[in-house]
Amino acid sequence: MKGFEAYLGYKSLIDDHILDFLPEIDPKSETLYDAMRYSLKSGGKRVRPCLLLAACGFAGGDVSQALPYACAIEYIHTYSLIHDDLPAMDDDDMRRGVPTSHKVFGDGIAILAGDGLLTSAFEAMNKDMLIYFDNPSKLKQRVRAAYEISKGAGCRGMVAGQLADIEAEHRIVSGGLLDYIHVNKTASLIVAAVKAGANIGGGDRELIANLENYAENLGLAFQIADDILDVSGDEKEIGKKTGSDINHEKPAYPALYGLEKSEERLRELTDSALAALEPYEGKADFFVRMAESLRSRTK
Ligand code: IPE
Ligand code: IPE
Ligand code: MG
Ligand code: MG
Ligand code: MG
Repeated sequence: MKGFEAYLGYKSLIDDHILDFLPEIDPKSETLYDAMRYSLKSGGKRVRPCLLLAACGFAGGDVSQALPYACAIEYIHTYSLIHDDLPAMDDDDMRRGVPTSHKVFGDGIAILAGDGLLTSAFEAMNKDMLIYFDNPSKLKQRVRAAYEISKGAGCRGMVAGQLADIEAEHRIVSGGLLDYIHVNKTASLIVAAVKAGANIGGGDRELIANLENYAENLGLAFQIADDILDVSGDEKEIGKKTGSDINHEKPAYPALYGLEKSEERLRELTDSALAALEPYEGKADFFVRMAESLRSRTK
């Protein structure tokens, strides 16, 4: 249970501080902040920021110092969900157990709430870096963290995956293309989370490489689990409507391989994620638990 307790601890840290790194509210743009807050505060598992904090701690760093980056990655993830749900993308009505942003605020404000969250992430990270200007080694760790996050979220990562995802709609995709989509749209931000956290924590190359290997496997497994839950999940539990992928003819694991094969691949990938943690036997409870919980989520 130690890993689960660690997750709950990190998650409540994120839940308590998620609004702290947003820019100050200008009353003239109150609607924008309302929309940003609406999506940030409506729940979410906080997987990426928890991974970032845990990686920082695992590398020997002070977890509280990684908080601006953890919240920043959750801002980016939340923006990606708001845009992902728009009629022009996946056209979904429910997210995190409540109506999607565009259903509440309209498409225009939902787009801007996403833009606001994305830019606030970089403002938060840059503001934190300013504190370390006289401490080059700590500054370097933070610049590296922000670079990993930019890369994972951007045109060679999540945005590329989302592009390939919409281009693959209504088409039969190959296994290779499906993995390209999933690795980019989902795994890349999960990889960025552990690399950013490990950098802030002062981790060495070996530790960063092992966590990267772990997160690559976990990230792909995470999207496969999401695809499986879209078919067989409980709407209350996942906070979104099931059947969305099939209804919109989206590229997804169960459609290409069937549920059983998808489960099998999920197991293989979580096994590979766990294998990457072997050098840390007994010391990586949080990461072990995170991988194991993916398997039980689809049961
Ligand atoms: C949903 O992410 C989108 C995917 C990349 C699969 P999460 O399953 O992490 O969603 P929240 O943050 O818990 O709502
Ligand atoms: C989303 O994948 C990936 C993102 C980068 C947002 P999905 O489209 O499968 O995520 P859900 O099922 O809407 O949460
Ligand atoms: Mg999508
Ligand atoms: Mg979607
Ligand atoms: Mg999905």
